[in-house]
Amino acid sequence: MWGGRFAEGPSAIMREINASIPFDKALWREDIAGSLAHVAMLAKQGIVSEADAETITDGLTQIAEEYERDGVPEDWDLEDIHMTVEARLTEIVGPAAGRLHTARSRNDQVATDFRMWVRSAMQRAVAGIDALLGALVERAQEHADSIMPGFTHLQTAQPVTLGHHLLAYFEMLMRDRSRFADALARMDECPLGSAALAGTGFDLDREMTAEALGFARPTRNSLDAVSDRDFALDYLMAASQCSLHLSRLAEEFIIWASQPFGFVKLPDTLSTGSSIMPQKRNPDAAELVRGHAGRVIGCATSLMVTMKGLPLAYSKDMQDDKPPVFEAAGLLDLSLAAMAGMVADSGFDTARMRKAAEAGHATATDLADWLVRQADIPFREAHHITGAAVKLADEKGVALDGLSIEDLKAIDARIDERVFDALSVDASVAARSSYGGTAPTRVREQVEEARKRLEDK
Ligand code: ARG
Repeated sequence: MWGGRFAEGPSAIMREINASIPFDKALWREDIAGSLAHVAMLAKQGIVSEADAETITDGLTQIAEEYERDGVPEDWDLEDIHMTVEARLTEIVGPAAGRLHTARSRNDQVATDFRMWVRSAMQRAVAGIDALLGALVERAQEHADSIMPGFTHLQTAQPVTLGHHLLAYFEMLMRDRSRFADALARMDECPLGSAALAGTGFDLDREMTAEALGFARPTRNSLDAVSDRDFALDYLMAASQCSLHLSRLAEEFIIWASQPFGFVKLPDTLSTGSSIMPQKRNPDAAELVRGHAGRVIGCATSLMVTMKGLPLAYSKDMQDDKPPVFEAAGLLDLSLAAMAGMVADSGFDTARMRKAAEAGHATATDLADWLVRQADIPFREAHHITGAAVKLADEKGVALDGLSIEDLKAIDARIDERVFDALSVDASVAARSSYGGTAPTRVREQVEEARKRLEDK
């Protein structure tokens, strides 16, 4: 393959360490699309004859059919997908195949192929996020009034609505979506025509190949173009952050599905049983989403470390860019699909959630706020009085609104009957009506806004 300079072929170890075909065969569609665009441009520019271009185009089309039908053969001697396609082309069309690589190098070829692959992965991520966003909005609307405990430190803090809680994930996923969209806009340049590193002396039409491959324009600097993997890093960073959000959501479901909580019944389709404990219904899908996040973050770390020491331009280390991206993409696609299913199809036990919200003195802040508003007591003092009420309720084994007015008056004489209006969990969430708050009216408003944001995106 390298011609006459080498007296001996590579050792078995060299062949094995060099071969990327076991993984970069995943790029075959992009590789053939890139070659078709390149040869059409070479013909238009008069760099290869129309007849040769037609021969090459027919050969490439046949190879695509073969790979679609039989898969890509793996021959380590051919190193990578680019040489694999070219070798097959030579078998099919003979010497004309040798003209395809005019004014091109595997360096700009792989940069182009990989960019196209990553572009598709980003588009898939956006579609997967959209499905999950849709499910979150639907369930948020359904549960705009469903009351549950809101937690800080995983301790009952204040009642919130389930709709509000789900819309928190809507916000996170919208940010993830915008990160992928930004990355797509930034990567919209085609490296093809940068050749090995310095450009080429042939009179190319780089606008033509860029357009044929769906890019807005050609890259502006050939050295950067062949050694830039920012698009892959952008994907992995956005995937990491998205996986991190999915992992947090998965963790919520795992906690909610546990027996002491019992807030949610996961869909049968996304649960597994135990081979020994018949009562078990395990949240395996959620646990794997949580686990996958660690792997995706590992993939991002892997490529950052690969790239950090590389001088311009291409170095073979960059061949190692693909496995972490392929791995992360597989994990992210699955995780998004699993969480969309979990959000859409889980059954929430709203009665149980409400009971839990009533149990933990979650309306203590409401009592303090009432003292501030109705009795003009400074908040710090109100906090202290409320603490005494919580202590008494604990001693009596009742919720705050289970204390009698006499009990409350004994703690502070300024308290009167009207306080009970503030102490129910319903009153508590209804009162939290500041913009962005948990009140059902606000949640409904945000559901409407979320729908619009999904339409306008
Ligand atoms: N298989 C190589 C890769 O994935 C293609 C580029 C090879 N270029 C080179 N100069 N050896 O990076």
